[in-house]
Amino acid sequence: DDMGQEERAFQARIDEGIKIEAKDWMPDAYRKTLIRQISQHAHSEIVGQLPEGNWVTRAPTLKRKSILLAKIQDEAGHGLYLYSAAETLGVSRDDLLAALHSGKAKYSSIFNYPTLSWADMGAIGWLVDGSAIINQIPLCRCSYGPYARAMIRVCKEESFHARQGYDIMMSLCKGTPEQKAMAQDALNRWWWPSLMMFGPSDAASVNSAQSAQWRIKLFSNDELRQRMVDQTVPQIEYLGLTVPDPDLKFNAETGHYEFGEIDWSEFNNVLKGNGPCNRERLQTRVKAYEDGAWFRDALVAYADKQAANKAA
Ligand code: 3HC
Repeated sequence: DDMGQEERAFQARIDEGIKIEAKDWMPDAYRKTLIRQISQHAHSEIVGQLPEGNWVTRAPTLKRKSILLAKIQDEAGHGLYLYSAAETLGVSRDDLLAALHSGKAKYSSIFNYPTLSWADMGAIGWLVDGSAIINQIPLCRCSYGPYARAMIRVCKEESFHARQGYDIMMSLCKGTPEQKAMAQDALNRWWWPSLMMFGPSDAASVNSAQSAQWRIKLFSNDELRQRMVDQTVPQIEYLGLTVPDPDLKFNAETGHYEFGEIDWSEFNNVLKGNGPCNRERLQTRVKAYEDGAWFRDALVAYADKQAANKAA
């Protein structure tokens, strides 16, 4: 049947590494899974500003404060960039935000944890943005053109985020014993949630097979998670800190670190909305959206007036 013929032609383009653009024919399911992933990626960027926002007024120096502000501003830009990429698939930003505010749409589990000390700003930049980079570099080569192109700029800014985070951790680890203890405490609290950012195990991943076939996902959840562990353990050793995983050990044969079992009940609990900060994060986002309604309405009224004047 011709539907099969169209899908076969589509898959052939994907297999040849041809970028799919907004105006191209695509299976409904391809459109749907991209709207799902890109909008949730955008939600992650927007909600991801909140944990760090907590430390803008508490930053130890003006320099650290201005760097943190710049990072948070970048995340807002990443979110808007990704909402625009999602809109190319025929969805409205208001619908995407309604899905977030109603609890229907997900955002990255990592942002449901509290930021308890300044060292968390280091751990987040280093581990969370570090993990995001590992996940986002392959997305620069994914099959959907607007998403791949958005990722190229996002990745450039993410590397600044990760480096400033590691710089905070280095300062603390070279500081007083209390400062080094703060860095270890932050590592203890952010290590496992950072590994959970890569998603469930490959065996438990419902979207991976289809996303891999459509070259949306170029590496599996477990492959990227392994990359994160292999890259980060030497950095932890350089800092003189300890990985909070007694089962961690280097396998000289494979060249990879083997690590302990992830607490998937914690992961699933956070996804169900029962993480430490889920309710607070969503309430903050809903309040910001409602408080901004007058401004959005004024912009629309002004645009309508401009259009009426032009038409007159
Ligand atoms: N937090 C919340 N939900 C998660 C999750 C996490 N860490 N990991 C997986 N999930 C969800 C998936 O969205 C999916 O649910 P859904 O079908 O309702 O969307 C379900 O768990 C099963 O997971 P799958 O592996 O089957 O889903 P995916 O194939 O979509 O893989 C993913 C999950 C790897 C996160 C993929 O969606 C992805 O690569 N997304 C783009 C990257 C992204 O969103 N990164 C967020 C990191 S934070 C960030 O970027 C901000 C940075 O600037 C700090």
